[in-house]
Amino acid sequence: MPGQFQLSIDETVKEAKNAWDLGVPSVILFGIPDHKDAVGSTGFDPDGIVQRAIKAIKDAVPEMCVITDVCMCEYTDHGHCGAIVDGDVDNDATLELLRKEALTHAQAGADMVAPSDMMDGRVGAIRNILDENGFSNIPVMAYAAKYASTFYGPFRDAAESPPQFGDRRSYQMDPPNALEALREVELDIMEGADIVMVKPALPYLDIIRMIKDRFGLPTAAYNVSGEYSMVKAMERLDWGDGRGLMMEMLMSIKRSGADMILTYFAPEAAKVIQG
Ligand code: PBG
Ligand code: ZN
Repeated sequence: MPGQFQLSIDETVKEAKNAWDLGVPSVILFGIPDHKDAVGSTGFDPDGIVQRAIKAIKDAVPEMCVITDVCMCEYTDHGHCGAIVDGDVDNDATLELLRKEALTHAQAGADMVAPSDMMDGRVGAIRNILDENGFSNIPVMAYAAKYASTFYGPFRDAAESPPQFGDRRSYQMDPPNALEALREVELDIMEGADIVMVKPALPYLDIIRMIKDRFGLPTAAYNVSGEYSMVKAMERLDWGDGRGLMMEMLMSIKRSGADMILTYFAPEAAKVIQG
């Protein structure tokens, strides 16, 4: 993925500081462990890579809002977002793993958790375990409408997390289906989501607008790896002005109703915005 790197904890802290200094208020962490297994145990190890990175960032830049991606795919050897039972991702077995992962993130000092797995019932399951352990103040940002998208390609490559068999269509959403997004978002809100997210952003601006208008909740959009990489590719080929493309893309996402945007462009865009 152009210009994006796997970072050590030291480098992560530097990046976070740099982003903060540019006016970026928040980061989201994805972990790449040394070791992967069938249930993704390194994902809920209190001493895991993300758990240690949270502490390090909060020590260095205490005011920065540290969000964590809660999912199993980076930690499982099969690359699926949950536990496999009889050759298939098992929804309920996965909920237990996600609960442990979210709790260890909160215990390490995360300000917000963001489940991206798309299992049914995960927002409620995570909300419960956080509340039971004194973290009722930690919000859940749910990847509520997450489509099974080809635009995730560069991320899977960078995060070494492609599914080793099958695909993610049994738990991610079908691109031509708009009504399913409303149902998914409604369920997540009923289970206690504080922020709902649409992913990807650019090919789903209609979904962002629909969700913002219908529910009025803080709505996030994830400007994913493929959207970012398209711009970088055009720039490299000298086919367009990268900065202009980036700003127009981000503004269109904002115009569609997004209150916040997760984007690999954040430091670059912050520089443009600060002038
Ligand atoms: C999976 C996950 C995905 C991304 C981040 N976490 C999607 C997937 O691989 O199905 C994609 C992010 C991006 O493309 O920028 N939980
Ligand atoms: Zn996943």
